[in-house]
Amino acid sequence: MDDPLGRLTTLPRVALAHTPTPLEAMPNLSAHLAGAELLVKRDDCTGLAMGGNKVRQLEFYLGQARAEQADTVLITGAVQSNFVRLAAAAACKMGMACHIQLEERVPDTDAVYRSSGNVLLDRILGATVHHYPEGEDESGADRRIQEIAADLKRQGRRPYVIPLAPGHAPLGALGYVLATQELLTQIDHLGLDLDHVVVASGSGHTHAGLLFGLKALGHSAKVSGICVRRGSAAQRIRVSGHCAGIAELLDLTSPVTDSDINLDDDFLAPGYGRINHATLEAMELAARLEGLIVDPTYTAKAMAGLIHHARRQGAGCRILFIHTGGHPGVFGSEPKLTEYFAENTGPGVPPR
Ligand SMILES: Cc1ncc(COP(=O)(O)O)c(C=O)c1O
Repeated sequence: MDDPLGRLTTLPRVALAHTPTPLEAMPNLSAHLAGAELLVKRDDCTGLAMGGNKVRQLEFYLGQARAEQADTVLITGAVQSNFVRLAAAAACKMGMACHIQLEERVPDTDAVYRSSGNVLLDRILGATVHHYPEGEDESGADRRIQEIAADLKRQGRRPYVIPLAPGHAPLGALGYVLATQELLTQIDHLGLDLDHVVVASGSGHTHAGLLFGLKALGHSAKVSGICVRRGSAAQRIRVSGHCAGIAELLDLTSPVTDSDINLDDDFLAPGYGRINHATLEAMELAARLEGLIVDPTYTAKAMAGLIHHARRQGAGCRILFIHTGGHPGVFGSEPKLTEYFAENTGPGVPPR
């Protein structure tokens, strides 16, 4: 039979990620929640510069950059963006320069947020840092980064811009279409099946890629995107647009219908990058039951979504959590996390 995703291997791509990433059981968390059987796909272990989901996405962006003979990569994102940090690392590995633009997306941040975690790594990686004063102005941030690219071009550089706003080919999502093939091979070898996949939905590339890949390969697992950036109505438009974009890139009819797009924004408040009680509970349970570190902006909110679904679904159900990384963000929120965890009186786990 023809490989429905055959065209994926013909698109420009560079190898950056350590794959396959491990697929592990979470028996202690499953038992604690007395609900569904839980597994985790360790995409926090993709290798490059502390890892995370964006490494798989960057394989396609940097592939395109190399195809265009670029010598400089430009990217815009939040101050504690993992994508920005990993783009800087990928550029180093490819022998390219990197310009990053950090946007003011999170209100009331402290000095630690602005200098530790991903920001420190950006500096160690030697990226040229620019600042953008807004946090909710994607097209303005894209315009500004294009201006920086135009300046670089005038200086004789060959820039490649990784875009932020929708309306561009979702190259990053292709990394997760490819990851779906890897995942299905792993569960096949283990003789397992999956009922449900839970993943953070930010730009929506990871969510859309997984959903598209599963559906294209004929798998019926439900995919729930846990909103970490915007509410579910706006996020649905993004994910749906990315699925259409993937179909175009792969020259396929999209197998994804609107009813396949499941979004949950119950764990987002008070907003992107801001810690709520469920974030802290999820961090505590993941760490103390499974030795897993999840970050306050993305993976702890997704883990809170997983906990919610696991509690609701019975023991006959098997749910996979995609751990998308974000570890440096823990240090960017150090004072708030120290305040909470120093007391060690969280909601979950009795001391051993
Ligand atoms: C650690 C982490 N998890 C999840 C996401 C969300 O992934 P996506 O932007 O593909 O929706 C991000 C986005 O930056 C991230 O850094």
